[in-house]
Amino acid sequence: MHKIDIDLVEMTLDVMKYAIDRISSINTEIGQPKTEEELKALVGETITDTGIGGEYAFNLWKTYLVKANVPIDHPRHLAFVPASPTRASIMFDLVTSASSIHGAYWMEGAGGIFCENEAMKWIVSLTGLPKGAFGVFTSGGTAANLSAMVTAREDWRSNSIYKKERGLIITSSGAHSSIKAMAKVIDVDVILVNTEDRLLGTELEKTIQGLSINQRKRLFAIVATGGTTNAGIIDDLDGIALVCKKEQLWFHVDAAYGGGALAADSVRHLFNGIEQADSITIDPHKWLFSPYDCGAVIYKQPELAKKAHAQQGSYLEIFKDSGADGFNPTDYQIQLTRRVRGLPLWFSLATHGTNRYKQAIERGLELAQIAGQLIIEHPNLELVRPPSLSCVLYRRIGWSADDYKNWTYKNHKKGFALVAPTKWKQGDDFETVSRFCFINPDTTEADIKMILESMA
Ligand SMILES: Cc1ncc(COP(=O)(O)O)c(C=O)c1O
Repeated sequence: MHKIDIDLVEMTLDVMKYAIDRISSINTEIGQPKTEEELKALVGETITDTGIGGEYAFNLWKTYLVKANVPIDHPRHLAFVPASPTRASIMFDLVTSASSIHGAYWMEGAGGIFCENEAMKWIVSLTGLPKGAFGVFTSGGTAANLSAMVTAREDWRSNSIYKKERGLIITSSGAHSSIKAMAKVIDVDVILVNTEDRLLGTELEKTIQGLSINQRKRLFAIVATGGTTNAGIIDDLDGIALVCKKEQLWFHVDAAYGGGALAADSVRHLFNGIEQADSITIDPHKWLFSPYDCGAVIYKQPELAKKAHAQQGSYLEIFKDSGADGFNPTDYQIQLTRRVRGLPLWFSLATHGTNRYKQAIERGLELAQIAGQLIIEHPNLELVRPPSLSCVLYRRIGWSADDYKNWTYKNHKKGFALVAPTKWKQGDDFETVSRFCFINPDTTEADIKMILESMA
């Protein structure tokens, strides 16, 4: 398995040809999921005592398995938070794999970590955080949120008054599901301010005033959102920062989706207040055009993250020795062994420059405005709310929840588009509506028109 022979060379060429075709493709197909039984029937037994051979396995991939996936970068994939890695970043994802770098410690991964840090400096500069702030790349927004929450909780517990207390955080019901999920992981309680709309500092203040003495004692952090997943809404970061300062609470901003828009001059002001955060999540694999998986967590005071996350072990001591001096990404998030997952972003940023990033992000914002206008002009469609960042919520007049669902499946089955319904809360009721989230700058106005027409 570790020897080089002619079969290996041939296989390498086959794989490279596939990668070149995919990287330069402009016509990817929206694949269809199949059941596990169906896939098994198509490919048979692939893991056997003696192996089925690389060529055969690769053919199974190309003939059947790849077709059971939806490429996230299809220009009419506008569901969830799609992605659109640059071709340069995909290329360097291959290079990252081929280079076999352990990205936990500088001693082993200095070259890769240096590149990651160069890219990180640009991201940190977008936030406006003070000097000394820095971050690391994680496997995604969930891991970044978890790493930040652990840091906040450990910092809070470093005060002996709170050592034995169960923590409590406040966020809004519009916050991403990972906040609630990660609160479970670290066993802290969550109070949700009941709003899918912009969480205001005044509402937060009111919620804090309403806490019992015990709850107030246990409250250690506020999680605001810099671009909700459902609707692209940015909380009142300035107002929330003020409350956090007054109440001495950790201020985390989850900008996993919206964070890319910090680079867009047209909307940067909407994030004012983010520069006062203690920690921020931004996912390059969303709106900074990196391949999966690449999240980022940034801290105002990275040394607090180090206190919370640095692992100890006799086998790790050499990494901390002065002879191995350098920045160790593992010290600032939950993972030890890690891929240098910021490397593809570095290469793409170095290749294209940050201005091209700004333009591509502005295009996502523009597409949302274009879609909004087309919806306003359409007799059967209505905006649920004005487009926010690159999210557009709209209704097809007269449709039920089943109509939206059937429409999604129909378009997906045809290989035409993937646009999924969501729910929007009106008063106490949840209405099923349709949702666009634009990331891919190659989505065209014609794509949007065709999708809207398919609802006629
Ligand atoms: C606001 C927000 N936070 C966190 C996440 C979770 O990120 P990931 O899926 O990269 O773990 C998402 C994902 O869409 C998100 O939109």
